[in-house]
Amino acid sequence: MTLHISVFSGAGQLAAALTDDVAQRLRRAPTLVLGLPTGRTPLGFYRRLVHVSRAAGADFSHATTFNLDEFLGVGPGEPGSYRQYMERHFFRHINIDRRRIHFLDGAAADPRAECERYEAAIAAAGGLDLQVLGIGANGHIGFNEPAERLAARTHVVRLRPGTRQANAALFGGDVARVPRHALSMGMATILHARSIVLMATGGEKAACVSAMVDGPLTTRTPASFLQLHPDVHVMLDQAAARKLRTDHAGG
Ligand code: F6R
Repeated sequence: MTLHISVFSGAGQLAAALTDDVAQRLRRAPTLVLGLPTGRTPLGFYRRLVHVSRAAGADFSHATTFNLDEFLGVGPGEPGSYRQYMERHFFRHINIDRRRIHFLDGAAADPRAECERYEAAIAAAGGLDLQVLGIGANGHIGFNEPAERLAARTHVVRLRPGTRQANAALFGGDVARVPRHALSMGMATILHARSIVLMATGGEKAACVSAMVDGPLTTRTPASFLQLHPDVHVMLDQAAARKLRTDHAGG
């Protein structure tokens, strides 16, 4: 067992613990470089972090952020974009210097060049200090979907039907409007972060969490590669932890 696992009584307790962790890291290292996810799972975490930041408990003025992924063909100003999600739920509420918010541009004319630009920007920032992750029910992290081969670096991905369905809410509930492709950090981009925190809540994540923690390393469960990293904290609620083979510390 290489992954450090905490099981919380509920999603609120998990979000509070992660908020404390990030706020503490920021106090220790104000120039923290954060990798960030979107999705439903981190909403409570962002809400609490905004609250703590308003109460002067987290100062983002010297921090840098890099989001994991963005839909291909969707520009940063479009309502379905992950950039707009981050604006709504986080960026517009904190004191971050906007020049230090980094995002993949889904509308870039040359997506491959955009991926290379992003890798270079992460390197220029000194690499990711803390990468926060969610996990897809199919075991994806970022948009690294289960496949025979995974890509190491930021790349264009084809989204699985289930992943498009899970993102339909961003596009008025219409799965047909969810792009078929996205740009995503690759497995090595994620695994080179100095520390990683993955959060998962709800029973629909129990199977992929069990595959990630107790299963073999396999490209069919991209999250299983986190077992290779020396500093990963997996934060779960009880429902997401219920298929784990072993007992894990409470949170
Ligand atoms: C989104 C991302 C995805 C999500 C995953 C879980 O930026 O990187 O890997 O973390 O799809 O999404 P939710 O939290 O909506 O279940």
